[in-house]
Amino acid sequence: MVRLRIFTTPEALSQALAREIARALAAKPSLVLGLPTGRTPIPLYRELVRLYASGGIDFSRATTFNLDEFLGMAPTDPRSYHAFMRRHLFDGVNLPRRQIHFLNGATGHAARECARYERAIARAGGIDLQILGLGVNGHIGFNEPARALVAGTHPVTLTAATRRANAALFGGASAVPSEALSMGMATIFRAKRIVLVSTGATKARCVARMLAGRITTRLPASFLQLHSHAEVWLDGAAASRLKTRIAAL
Ligand code: GLP
Repeated sequence: MVRLRIFTTPEALSQALAREIARALAAKPSLVLGLPTGRTPIPLYRELVRLYASGGIDFSRATTFNLDEFLGMAPTDPRSYHAFMRRHLFDGVNLPRRQIHFLNGATGHAARECARYERAIARAGGIDLQILGLGVNGHIGFNEPARALVAGTHPVTLTAATRRANAALFGGASAVPSEALSMGMATIFRAKRIVLVSTGATKARCVARMLAGRITTRLPASFLQLHSHAEVWLDGAAASRLKTRIAAL
């Protein structure tokens, strides 16, 4: 059963989750974290940087794996997810560079790059805590709604909805790359604990379908219902369509 936590604001949620990550790191300093990009985790990353500055968190032995990256995008490109993570988190905390893992969007061999990533995650002992965002269409990482989903890390063709959602990074949807590399459903669901974060009214309908609807490849996040340690952390706006159904969760 998915554990649900609802906070009044995205800030309250982010503070609580940053403290939760600090606790997990204190309990296991070599924690392996899976990390998302997007607008949703920005306040969380701000909190983690603030916690680090006040001595409240130590990343020195942690390892991170990001979920996805645009294909054809070098890590140095300011529009890459890699650069996004440096700006919002990595430049502000003591995570050693060699312990930060990313899919290389500039690879000439997508399949080989995906296999390398799977091996690196396995070598690290698997992901202890996977933080997820939620695409407006129910995608996680870049696992888009489809007739069938892919288990391992793989190249993906992005949907028009996802390209529109990422338009701000690129100054227009048409400039968003049409392909990406993403951890697969099994890569994500092998994580020992998953916390999906979703905030804002635009996600409310998707959140309700994810938690109270059927498990379907048309809404990849609905598979969370099958994970034994999955949590969904929401603000009031994202939870607004759940009210009548909460009792059933
Ligand atoms: C992108 C990322 C996802 C993320 C999603 C939601 O598509 N690949 O991992 O969850 O955006 O973004 P936002 O948080 O901006 O709504």
